[in-house]
Amino acid sequence: MNPQRTLKEKTITAEEAVLKIQDGDYVHVYGSSAEPNTFLENIKHLKGQRKDVKLVHFLSLFPYDFYSDESYRGIITTENMFCSRFCIDSQKSGMMTFIPNHLRNSGSDRFFYYRARGKQISIYVASVTPMDGHGYFSTATVGMSNRALVKCADIVMLEINESLPLTFGDSYIHLNEVDYVFRGDNTIRYMPAAEPDEIDLKIGGYVAELVENGATIQLGIGAIPNAVAAALGDKKDLGVHTEMLGDAIVHLYKKGVITNAFKTHCKHKMVTTFSLGGKETYDFLDDNIGVLHLDVAKTNSPYEIAKNHKMVSVNTTLQVDLMGQCASEAIGTLQISGVGGQTDTVLGAKMSPDGKSIIALRTTAEIEAKDGKRRRISKITALHGPGTVISLSRSDVDYIVTEYGIAALRGASLRERAESLIRIAHPDFRDALREEAAKAFLL
Ligand code: COA
Repeated sequence: MNPQRTLKEKTITAEEAVLKIQDGDYVHVYGSSAEPNTFLENIKHLKGQRKDVKLVHFLSLFPYDFYSDESYRGIITTENMFCSRFCIDSQKSGMMTFIPNHLRNSGSDRFFYYRARGKQISIYVASVTPMDGHGYFSTATVGMSNRALVKCADIVMLEINESLPLTFGDSYIHLNEVDYVFRGDNTIRYMPAAEPDEIDLKIGGYVAELVENGATIQLGIGAIPNAVAAALGDKKDLGVHTEMLGDAIVHLYKKGVITNAFKTHCKHKMVTTFSLGGKETYDFLDDNIGVLHLDVAKTNSPYEIAKNHKMVSVNTTLQVDLMGQCASEAIGTLQISGVGGQTDTVLGAKMSPDGKSIIALRTTAEIEAKDGKRRRISKITALHGPGTVISLSRSDVDYIVTEYGIAALRGASLRERAESLIRIAHPDFRDALREEAAKAFLL
């Protein structure tokens, strides 16, 4: 095979790629930094040409107009496996819906066959680096279900993006597995870590108390895990086995805190299933054999995670009740993210010898009330409201950390849970929480 000649034969334009979609097809794409941007911008060519297309998506970073623009109704609907904040309007309009799923499950092709009710997944569109001399493309910041999708899609199409980093692990596709290739506009989307404030740093400090030298860490998505990394600067020989790798981990590595030298699984390597951060992170990942982007079935299987001794998972939540149930992905019934790997990483860390799982959160949030005014609420609530989506069950939760301290819930009774969570709630809300807890027979 002459890879260059075959590549030429398989090359089409982005518009032609979009028009490969047929009525009723499922089209699967990844978001984050490896979104096939040019393909998604060309979705406009489906207008007047196709109907009932379903786009299965994960963590879009850009609000394309077909998510909620009425002119796309009946043409394309999005089914999201992990939403972004801007997905709320499209959920309200009925043009976007959500697929509840622990991320580990989607690492298997069985998931997609079930999803497509026994049919093929139709089309997988991946954003990739230019082909190497051996016919390989790198899916860059995405391991995820890449290999499962290549296996079960009718058509595999690649958008070439020269800005993407070349990575190792399961983040590859060979030209022989590909039907069509088209050139993209080389856009790459960044999500740099937010600067932690004083409260975040206090939380980070308490989390750091729970992390021993030589531990392997997982840092989740959101502002708090980034602040935690800032507090881990004095630790030694940490390892990384995570679902998402971002700026926080890269900074710790560059400081010499992360060496991966004492990992008991994939020693000397950082393991992740996707990456999302600023330019510094993508530059760091490029051609870096020290980082593996593996299938999500491997990174997020609790059994695989638990092969790391002293595994510490750090995630955050929107709201926790006094029994320890965490609502981490939705406000009411509207998704703002997904459970992602929260349960996977919590279970894995708890199963790990000397492992710990930490949910770290600020005690209050400013939210918009029904009258349109901003109001401060307690993120520790006595009971969740009706319809609340519980992402992490009370039986799985381990440590909860706020800027007021640490509540250790593993093995704790309901009464002990309520007492310790009220102790780390914001002082302004503690009396009301105590009253409500007593009424609910929790104290
Ligand atoms: N009630 C209502 N709204 C709330 C709230 C609550 N209890 N708590 C927070 N909010 C609002 C915030 O005000 C903010 O609104 P804004 O965007 O209008 O400012 C929004 O919800 C997001 O909250 P914030 O705390 O800034 O989110 P974050 O970026 O730190 O992310 C999660 C937090 C929980 C959404 C995120 O960590 C997540 O999706 N977790 C689940 C997945 C996961 O943990 N995976 C693990 C491996 S990656």
